[in-house]
Amino acid sequence: MTEINNVVTNVLSPVFGHRYPTVVRGDRCWVEDASGRRYLDAMSGGSMAATLGHGRKDIIDVARRQARQLSFAHNERLTNPMQEQLAAELASVAPTDFTRVKFVTGGSEANETALRVARAYHVERGDMDRWQVVSPAQAYHGPTLQTLALTGRPGLHGPLGPYLPQHLHIPPCTSHFDPTGEAALAALDQVLELAGPRSVSAFFCEAISAAALPAYGPPRRFWEGVEERRREHGFLVCFDEVVTGIGRTGTWFAANACPLVPDVIATAKGLGAGYAAIGAVLVRDEVYQAFAKGSRRFTLGHTWDGAPLSCAVGLKVLQVLRNEKLLERVAARGPRLRAELEAALSDITMVSEVRGHGFLLGIEFADPRDKGSFLPPDLRVAGRVEQTCFDNGLLIYSTQPTRDGFAGDQCLFAPPFVAPDEDLAEMVERFSTSVRRVAAEVDRQLAMTDRPFASVPPDA
Ligand SMILES: Cc1ncc(COP(=O)(O)O)c(C=O)c1O
Repeated sequence: MTEINNVVTNVLSPVFGHRYPTVVRGDRCWVEDASGRRYLDAMSGGSMAATLGHGRKDIIDVARRQARQLSFAHNERLTNPMQEQLAAELASVAPTDFTRVKFVTGGSEANETALRVARAYHVERGDMDRWQVVSPAQAYHGPTLQTLALTGRPGLHGPLGPYLPQHLHIPPCTSHFDPTGEAALAALDQVLELAGPRSVSAFFCEAISAAALPAYGPPRRFWEGVEERRREHGFLVCFDEVVTGIGRTGTWFAANACPLVPDVIATAKGLGAGYAAIGAVLVRDEVYQAFAKGSRRFTLGHTWDGAPLSCAVGLKVLQVLRNEKLLERVAARGPRLRAELEAALSDITMVSEVRGHGFLLGIEFADPRDKGSFLPPDLRVAGRVEQTCFDNGLLIYSTQPTRDGFAGDQCLFAPPFVAPDEDLAEMVERFSTSVRRVAAEVDRQLAMTDRPFASVPPDA
């Protein structure tokens, strides 16, 4: 079969009429398109799922063996050894006291299930009115209607507003607006008051942000403040660890290194590492006990939840992470990678911050005229960096939610954990070359026009 590159795709794509490169094969942290052109994959498959790189024969062999033995069995009436083992293993690497797991097939399903757990937990305990969820506005939790409602970004909601439940939002405590976290805590107090007593079911957030605020982790004080309010108000804390779970930040979960232990963790991408569609929701024993002492039921599920094939892949992924000491590698190599990026970008005035936790790194850009304001959104700076990287054979991710008011142009850098040093060095080189090229153009554009600064005030 002839492999055709750069096709106008037949699927409902993000940009209609755009010619998409057609990738046809991958090997570790390289992917190849139909014309034979190779790209360095600094985004683990584009969405941070392929944490162990492409083309791993050991995982493929496990999947093949399991598919022959028993690929699928619906878990409403049946269970299977792969699901049972994977549940036990996940509970053993989660923070203390996490004892039960529910499998799903992706990140949004994991987050939706976490929401269902939180609501049902309160109902099981007779707290019938708790349903509202509070979450930081600058976030991404998925495209389903409940998960979309958890972000407070009108730009993402688009025309779907009428379908979205009215959850409550606080501004994120970014280094830009609220480096101490105190303003976000004050906003949390306000929305708790607005919601009224015993009406909030959960505080829902990413422990370390992924695409929405690349690699940003709130300060310690913020977590302490959320803990104080959890004790006082009785809501649950749910962590969206769809990206950070299973090693991305150098620990099994970001929660393992967070001053606040959540009640529920939702995870997905790295669990299947791009070889199976699998996600999971982990709950603390206290949450489980509410069900165990109550209705003794947690109903509703999806067809592929806990399927032997995807759970066998998940088990192999955990084994690879352990055998190849990849958490240790990410924890040790991540800070050096961040330092290398920082050094390579240090002379570029529009680079305002390089952040990082393990192999999740964020690069933020600011207006070079005052080194602080957001760049004018119409310059599409981060998008141009992403495109220039692509032209230089490097896959990264960019985001420009400036008009939503909480963050400006940023790029995300999240290589597979197995990327060898020479490939990491090449990624840094290609990235800094691309940023430098765009920065020179932006400097020229800003000098020629008097585009206004774009410092948008936070507005939840
Ligand atoms: C932090 C976070 N949560 C949830 C999701 C949604 O996961 P999925 O696309 O698997 O539904 C994503 C996807 O990118 C994500 O980055």
